[in-house]
Amino acid sequence: MIDYNKIPSPCFLMEDQRLKSNLVKINSVAKEAGIDIILALKAFANWTYFPLIGEYLHGATASSLHEARLIFEQMTKKAHVYTPALIPEEFDELLTYTSHLTFNSFKQFQTYKERVNSHQYPISMGIRVNPEASASEVDMYNPSLPGTRFGVMASQMPAELPEEIEGLHFHVLCEASSYDLEKVLAAFEERFAHYLPQIKWLNMGGGHLITREGYDAEHLIRLLSNFRKRYDLKIILEPGSAIAWETGVLVSRVLDIVENHNIKTAILDVSFTAHMPDTLEMPYQPRVLGADSSIVEGKHAYKLGGSSCLSGDFMGDYSFENELKIGDPVILMDMMHYTTVKTTMFNGIKHPNLGRITEAGEFEMIREFGYEDYKSRLG
Ligand SMILES: Cc1ncc(COP(=O)(O)O)c(C=O)c1O
Repeated sequence: MIDYNKIPSPCFLMEDQRLKSNLVKINSVAKEAGIDIILALKAFANWTYFPLIGEYLHGATASSLHEARLIFEQMTKKAHVYTPALIPEEFDELLTYTSHLTFNSFKQFQTYKERVNSHQYPISMGIRVNPEASASEVDMYNPSLPGTRFGVMASQMPAELPEEIEGLHFHVLCEASSYDLEKVLAAFEERFAHYLPQIKWLNMGGGHLITREGYDAEHLIRLLSNFRKRYDLKIILEPGSAIAWETGVLVSRVLDIVENHNIKTAILDVSFTAHMPDTLEMPYQPRVLGADSSIVEGKHAYKLGGSSCLSGDFMGDYSFENELKIGDPVILMDMMHYTTVKTTMFNGIKHPNLGRITEAGEFEMIREFGYEDYKSRLG
């Protein structure tokens, strides 16, 4: 049991053991299915862990120059790269960190293919397609809605792929099951199967929540093994969330308790908008250790308030067994994927520390943030 009173608050706290067990699971799925699984940096980019991740995964995927460089420098692997639109001035540097490059449109491919061809090292080129099917119930996370900016539809494809195109890529899942992938694969095959003999690799994007309890990994392995029997292809999955799923928390503490119209709010030393933006963007209510996520008769009900000036910077309702006191730790659960990559320094609020519980059970500080970090982003 971690003694959260001893963790310097606020702190994003990774439990190394949990990350390792996710990596072991993903690695064994990749081996059994005979596929490559790589980390999507957009979900988790805490590079302290890149050497460890590099031991278990085949590499990583970047959606920008900076992500590609971080992979190259900290994981010492070249990146798979996809971005909706490339930036001309950055392109040559980007190529130095890239092994696979997926274009979002044929126009982008035409614009950049010569620069790829004349690059010092070979880079495998692909094109993102839109299978026009998704299992995402939230529009914000559905890249295949009519009017989407992502990928080429079957009706827009040439009869034959240009010979330089060695791969296809689709990404339409979010926190999905293997059964969701099965449906998407059926739609993909219906529209794109005739291109598959022409290519070497197929990247099935992210959204595969392999490490969620109840995920049917055996089904995924069967599904992809069968697919590989039908088509002689390297299959790549690039999940992000699955790697850091349930691996760590955000430790905060109560700074004050205020009351208005009989509603009690515990003001924390963290902010939902600055440190957990998905809670307001998606939106979702994060679980809090030891609390119910609703008002429960006989328990002590609070909203949790962020320490910014945004009126909507709060979450509720929660019920605690005991009355909250100033200084009490409040532990926000599952705060590793899409959080540390998205935080801001809005309001100049102190950015949470990055800390870890090592496999030996010890707390270690990875990084503290101060005034200079805040100042260096502005000028
Ligand atoms: C192209 C692409 N690949 C991979 C991912 C990672 O998805 P997830 O973190 O849901 O596994 C995303 C997420 O948006 C994406 O856009």
